Amino acid sequence: MVLITLEGIDGSGKTTLVTQLQHRLADIEPVFTREPTTAWTGRAVRRGIAEEVDPIAEALLFAADHAAHLATVVRPALAEGRTVLSDRYSDSRYAYQSVVLDRHMPEPLAWLRTLHDGWTIPPDQTFLLVLPVDQAMRRLGGNHGRREHFEQTEVLERVQAAYMALAEAEPWRFVLVDATKEKREIREFVESGIRETVARSRARRRP
Ligand code: TYD
Repeated sequence: MVLITLEGIDGSGKTTLVTQLQHRLADIEPVFTREPTTAWTGRAVRRGIAEEVDPIAEALLFAADHAAHLATVVRPALAEGRTVLSDRYSDSRYAYQSVVLDRHMPEPLAWLRTLHDGWTIPPDQTFLLVLPVDQAMRRLGGNHGRREHFEQTEVLERVQAAYMALAEAEPWRFVLVDATKEKREIREFVESGIRETVARSRARRRP
């Protein structure tokens, strides 16, 4: 029962990495999941993003989707002893919404943490894909006609800085991944990290 999350700014290459890991890690049968989820709560989040709903309402929608995600996917899978791999998780809120809410309340990160406190399940390990924002924007340019409000250079710069601060605060949990490297190298690095973490957790559980 290990909870591993993948994080990074838009365009950092998470989607490609997840697709590769789904093939490569089939033998350990992880539960691959994501936030926003594909359930109705996740669709509500996407609608909120598309309609540029009030930022506090948006943050609460993301948190609601997280609660439903824990109840329906994460908690049951961990209870069965499965490895859970989530493409985005609570750190996405701490990084993105702390930036988006900056002008709406005095201490958005503290508010976001309090919002999650007492019921969220913290990840055991988090791989953070780090790519210079100009490169991420170039990648996004290729496949996005219209950009979501998060996908702006200035916003992503601040989100990336927020992610780095989170990683600095919890170095035992975060693994920084140089997303400028070749896709294959990135995949090998993350795959072996996940395998080590899963093996360590299995060894701990053995009587
Ligand atoms: P995602 O589905 O990962 O992006 P894409 O549509 O490119 O696959 O996430 C959608 C957007 O929502 C993305 O810009 C990141 C943002 N986001 C937050 O701001 N807070 C959150 O808690 C999550 C999960 C995502």
